[in-house]
Amino acid sequence: MTTTLAARGAATPGPATDLAIDARGLVKRFGDNTAVDGVDLQVPTGSVYGVLGPNGAGKTTTVSMLATLLRPDAGSATVFGYDVVDDAVAVRSLIGVTGQYASVDEDLSARQNLVLFGRLLGKSRSASKARADELLADFALEEAADRPLKDFSGGMRRRLDLAASLIDTPPLLFLDEPTTGLDPRTRAQMWETIRKLVAHGSTVLLTTQYLDEADQLADRIAVIDRGRVIADGTADELKQSVGTSTLTLTPVDRADASTVAELAESVLGEPAVLSAEAGRVTAPLHRQDLVPDLLIALRERDITVDEIAVSKPSLDEVFLTITGRD
Ligand SMILES: Nc1ncnc2c1ncn2[C@@H]1O[C@H](COP(=O)(O)OP(=O)(O)O)[C@@H](O)[C@H]1O
Ligand SMILES: [Mg+2]
Repeated sequence: MTTTLAARGAATPGPATDLAIDARGLVKRFGDNTAVDGVDLQVPTGSVYGVLGPNGAGKTTTVSMLATLLRPDAGSATVFGYDVVDDAVAVRSLIGVTGQYASVDEDLSARQNLVLFGRLLGKSRSASKARADELLADFALEEAADRPLKDFSGGMRRRLDLAASLIDTPPLLFLDEPTTGLDPRTRAQMWETIRKLVAHGSTVLLTTQYLDEADQLADRIAVIDRGRVIADGTADELKQSVGTSTLTLTPVDRADASTVAELAESVLGEPAVLSAEAGRVTAPLHRQDLVPDLLIALRERDITVDEIAVSKPSLDEVFLTITGRD
């Protein structure tokens, strides 16, 4: 479940405490596959930093190197000034990591698992019990606390995973896709929990596939694709670069799609993207008030549109815009 089982307390933050993480040119290869291809990350202490990218982008591999679980093939990184390779023990004493999937003792209850982790971290039995009670309350797991874990839902497991990583509140916490696959309500609960945690002063590095999640939680975001950071900035900066929304138009007759794309471009003043197979046209939409003008222009050409949709920017659109590919 958590990988911070080494006793904590030895190290205090090192010399470069204004940066919780300073990574330069990190590389990790698995055979021919360069999973992480020169990643730079500067994470200010006290912030929530989002690493946003699709499946396979290299998020977990990056986190694993920063958390001393994998050795970089090239580049270097420090955590509070400690080198992740040379000072791995010090780094481990300052971090907490939650896995993408919890793996814990299924026959033990949530409470027993938390107490066990507390004991493994070197806490006394009574301190472990007290901390378990606090965490069960914080994560709304009190009712289920004494049921065996095999009866837990995915959302409850995820909350327990996060709880376990907070038995000692680490100065730096890695949350690797804490809400992937959760239903919207549980996601929202999880966001609340993460906000509480940040309010307590931890620095958080959060990986996610969801732009809205990074938007909700992160002070700064790095967009990662194919092992590279392709954009970074605040959520607002990224949104401005991808447009506030996306307009999707599907003409009844696919043969009209290229005309639709041309009209969309001239009316909206944005480069439209035509997806040939789907006969669908998408365009960034900065000004919703121009949509009626576009519809009128289409009607003047006798083009009937089967489907018209306005969507908030998603990770897909960020990628489409930043990388120029579908
Ligand atoms: N232990 C491993 N052995 C071989 N390939 C791996 C291993 N871990 C990850 N990869 C590969 O590295 C790439 C990045 O994976 P990962 O870091 O897990 O991405 P993400 O967390 O963004 O989904 C993928 O192509 C994945 O298949
Ligand atoms: Mg991953």
